[in-house]
Amino acid sequence: MSTNDTSAYNDFHLQFIAGEWQKGKDDSINTNTNPYNGDTLVEIQQATKDQLNEAYDAATQAQEAWAAQTPAERSAVLYKVVNILDQRQEEIVDWLIKESGSTRIKAMVEFGATRAITLEAATFPNRVHGEIRPSNTPGKENFIYREPIGIVAVISPWNFPLHLTQRSIAPALALGNAVVLKPASDTPVTGGLLLAKVFEEAGLPKGLLNVVVGSGSEIGDAIVEHKAPSLVSFTGSTSVGKHIGELANGGEYIKQVALELGGNSPFVVLKDADIEQAVKAAAFGKFLHQGQICIAINRVIVEDEIYDDFVERFLAHVKTLNVGDPNKPDTAVGPIINEKQLKSLKDKIAQAQEEGAKMALSGEIEGQVVPPHVFTEVTREMDLSCNEVFGPLVGIIRAKDEEDALSIANDSMYGLSSAVFTADMQKGLRFARGIRAGMTHINDISVNDESNTPFGGEKNSGIGRFNGEWVLEEFTRTHWISMQNEPRQYPF
Ligand code: TAP
Repeated sequence: MSTNDTSAYNDFHLQFIAGEWQKGKDDSINTNTNPYNGDTLVEIQQATKDQLNEAYDAATQAQEAWAAQTPAERSAVLYKVVNILDQRQEEIVDWLIKESGSTRIKAMVEFGATRAITLEAATFPNRVHGEIRPSNTPGKENFIYREPIGIVAVISPWNFPLHLTQRSIAPALALGNAVVLKPASDTPVTGGLLLAKVFEEAGLPKGLLNVVVGSGSEIGDAIVEHKAPSLVSFTGSTSVGKHIGELANGGEYIKQVALELGGNSPFVVLKDADIEQAVKAAAFGKFLHQGQICIAINRVIVEDEIYDDFVERFLAHVKTLNVGDPNKPDTAVGPIINEKQLKSLKDKIAQAQEEGAKMALSGEIEGQVVPPHVFTEVTREMDLSCNEVFGPLVGIIRAKDEEDALSIANDSMYGLSSAVFTADMQKGLRFARGIRAGMTHINDISVNDESNTPFGGEKNSGIGRFNGEWVLEEFTRTHWISMQNEPRQYPF
C-alpha cells in the first residue's frame, strides 16, 4: 500500500507474525468491545505458543540484517511512520475512542505523545555512539561500543495503548532490534495491530515487528521465558511486573527487564499556591482518561490553612465536567475500560466510606461510566491514599504544614510521578527534590511525558527510564573492546 492510499485499515481479526497477517490458531477468542456502548469491534482468534515461537524465529532471522542497514535507512522508516500517523490521525483517534474508551481530548493527547516519541526515535540511529577510554595498560586502547540488544519482548497495557506500545517499539526498532509485542487483551488494535499496519505501510522489513494477540495469563510466561529476547519491556501493574522480574532473572535464561509499573502520585498544594490554578490542574491531572493513568494524580495533599478554600473551589469546578460519551468533543470523563476495573472502583467507593472519608461529591454509575467521586478528610492510612485508584475517585488529605505535606507525599511504596503547587519557586524546588520519585512537576500536574526527558519510577513503580538518551541506553547493549597494540608484559 502506498502512503497516499489512506483507505481505512482492516483485517484486525488477524495476528501479525513474520510479516504476514495470519489467523490465530488457539481455540480461544478475544472479543474486543467498545467500553462505552458494548459494541463488538472485532473478534480475534488468539495465538498459540507455537505461533509465539514462530514470531521469535522471524524476529531472530530478521534482526541482524536490519541492524546492518545504515542509520539513514532505519531513520527513513521511522520518519515514514510519522507521516503515516499524520495522514491517518482521524482513523487512529477514532480507534482510541472506540477501543480504549478514550475521550476525544485524551485520544488527541495520546496521538501527540505517540507522534513525538516516533519522531524522537527517528533520530536515534544517528545519535547512538560509542566511546574511547584511556587505558592504564601500556599499548592498550579501550573502545566502548553500543550495539543493538537483539530481540526485545514488549508487553503493553490498555490505558495509553498506542503511546505506551510505541514508546517501546519505535526506539527498539530504530536502534536495530527486532520486536515481539503482546498488546493488552482490552486493546489489541490500538496497542499493537494498528501500529503493525503503520510500520508495514512504512516499509519495515518483514519479521522485525511481530504482534501476538493472546491472554497474558496464557502466553505471558512463555513470552518472558523464551530464549530469544535479551530484554523484556513491560508496562503494566506492579503485581505482574514483579512476576515478570522474577521470571526474567530466575529462569533458565537471564534477561534484562525494563519495568514501568503502578503509581500513587501525590499532588501537593502549599498555602502560598495560586489556588484557582491548582484546582484546574488537580481536576485535569486526576480525571483525564477517567484517572486510568499510572501518573494520574492519586492523592491531593493540601496545607491546612487553605484546605477548606481549595475543597470548595475544587468541588465547584469538578461539578462542571461533562461525563459520558467519549466521542463528544467536550466530554471530560468517559467509560472505565472493563467490568473488572469497574468492580474494583465500586469496592473502593464503599471502602472509603467505611473508613470514614467524607464523600463530598458522587453521582450515579451508568454502564461503565463512573462520574467523579471526591472524598475529603482522607487520611494517609486510608485505602484511597495507600493504593493506586485507577479511576475517577480522589481523596483530599489535610497536611499540617509543608513538612507534614512532604512526609505524606513520601509515605508510599510507589515513586513514579508527583507535583507541587507554590508561588515560591525556590520552595517548590526544595520540596520537589525532597520527593522520592522519578518525576516531579512544580506548578503543573503529575501527568507529563516529553519524548526527550527521562520517564520512569522508583520503588514499586519500576526499573528503567523511557525517552531520549535514557531509552537509547536501555535498548542497546554496551560492549567493551580493548586493543593491545604492543606485546604486554605479564607477571608470569
Ligand atoms: P496488567 O494486568 O499488569 O497488564 C499489563 C499487560 O501485562 C497486559 O498486556 C497483560 O495482558 C499482560 N499480562 C498479564 N498477566 C501477565 C503475565 N502473567 N505475564 C505476562 N504478561 C501478563 O495491567 P493493566 O491492568 O493492563 O494496567 C493497569 C496497571 O498498569 C496499573 O497499575 C498502572 O499503573 C500500570 N501502568 C503503568 C504505566 C507506567 S508507565 N508505569 C503505564 C500504564 C499502566 P492481558 O491484557 O492479556 O491480561
